[in-house]
Amino acid sequence: MKLISVASEKGGVGKTTTAVTLAAHLGQQGRTLLVDADERLRSSVKWTGKKEGYAGWKFETTLFSAFMQLPEPGAGYDYVVLDTKGGEGQAELVELAHNSALLIVPTKPDGVSADGLVATLEPLINAGVRNYRVLLTDVPPAPNSDGLDLRLELDEGSIPVFSRDIRHAVAISKAAREGICVRDVKGDRYAKLVWMDYELVSREVIRDVR
Ligand SMILES: Nc1ncnc2c1ncn2[C@@H]1O[C@H](COP(=O)(O)OP(=O)(O)OP(=O)(O)O)[C@@H](O)[C@H]1O
Ligand SMILES: [Mg+2]
Repeated sequence: MKLISVASEKGGVGKTTTAVTLAAHLGQQGRTLLVDADERLRSSVKWTGKKEGYAGWKFETTLFSAFMQLPEPGAGYDYVVLDTKGGEGQAELVELAHNSALLIVPTKPDGVSADGLVATLEPLINAGVRNYRVLLTDVPPAPNSDGLDLRLELDEGSIPVFSRDIRHAVAISKAAREGICVRDVKGDRYAKLVWMDYELVSREVIRDVR
C-alpha cells in the first residue's frame, strides 16, 4: 500500500483537484482509496459523492478525521491518496512526509501562492525530507510565463518538480461542480488535455513510489 499525500501550507492551490484527479488515474492501475482529511470543507467527499448514479470513479472515497486512522497495509489497497486541508502546521507536514511514500505539494504559479510554497518547503528541507515533489497547477497558457519562471526558480534551488505542469482549464471547476471526473466534461477539449496532464503526473507518481 502506497500512501500519496497532497499537502500545502497555502489554501486554494489545487490539493483537492489533484487528489481527486490523481485518484481517478491511479484507480485504473490498482485498488485505490481517496481519503479526505479536510473535515471542515470535505471537498473531495463532496466532489466525488455529488452526482447520483455516476459510475466514473474507479476508486473508493472516505472521510478521515486523523492521520492515524489510515487503513492498515493489509487492507488491500494499492494506492491511498490523502487530500489534506490547507495550512497544516510545519511539524504535521514533516510527519506526513515521513508517513507517505510521496508528498505532493501543489502550487499555482502566481506570486502569492509561490510565497506559500516557501513556507511549505522550508520545514521539509530543514528536516531532510526527500520524498516530496512540487506540482505546478492551474498554469496559464503562453505568453504568460509564470509557470516557466517558477519552474526555473525551483530548478535553481534543486527542488524536485513534476516534469508536467497542470494547465489552467475551466473544465476543472465544471467537473467539481457537476460531481464528475474532468475526463467526462463534455464540449471542452481542454478537459481531455488537463486529464492527460494528470495522466503524465500519475505515471511519475507510480514510478516514484515503486
Ligand atoms: N488546473 C486548473 N485549472 C483551473 N482551475 C483550477 C485548476 N486547479 C484548481 N483550480 C481551481 O482552483 C480552486 C482551488 O482548487 P482546489 O479546491 O483543488 O484547491 P485546494 O488546495 O484543495 O483548496 P483548499 O485549500 O480550499 O482545500 C478551485 O476553484 C479549482 O477549481
Ligand atoms: Mg481542498
